[in-house]
Amino acid sequence: MEKQLTENETERLTISALKARETAYAPYSRYTVGAALLAESGRIYCGGNIENASYGATNCAERTAFFKAVSEGERRFKAIAIAGGLEGQEPAEYAYPCGICRQVMQEFGDADFRILVVKGKEDYREYRLKELLPCGFGGESIQ
Ligand code: THU
Repeated sequence: MEKQLTENETERLTISALKARETAYAPYSRYTVGAALLAESGRIYCGGNIENASYGATNCAERTAFFKAVSEGERRFKAIAIAGGLEGQEPAEYAYPCGICRQVMQEFGDADFRILVVKGKEDYREYRLKELLPCGFGGESIQ
């Protein structure tokens, strides 16, 4: 049986992702992204994108959230919610995770890992990682 997110988990995630946009450091693109990551422990870790004048050193919001959580000892995760848009504005579109972030999700997400792309508190789309990263490369591939 596939694990579903509860209504309460979904609501906490969407609200937290929208709020996490406020923590972004995005002086170059002015595109702020917030991510909220639900660990198996029940805790939610939030992150924003962190840009750099040397653009390639930029870290996406999703990876900020993952690295905060993993460095606090978390290893397994149920879901992540992502919201992005121009600074100071509501999201105009659903913000899908970049390829590098999908690969980080593959490393730490469980089999049913969910991705919520969020435009508003009750306006989101839900995917399984398997849909957004089919035939992914993971630890089991190098056993
Ligand atoms: N960005 C994210 O935070 N997550 C993604 O999955 C895609 C892109 C950020 C990086 C950069 O600061 C800004 O969005 C514009 O690319």
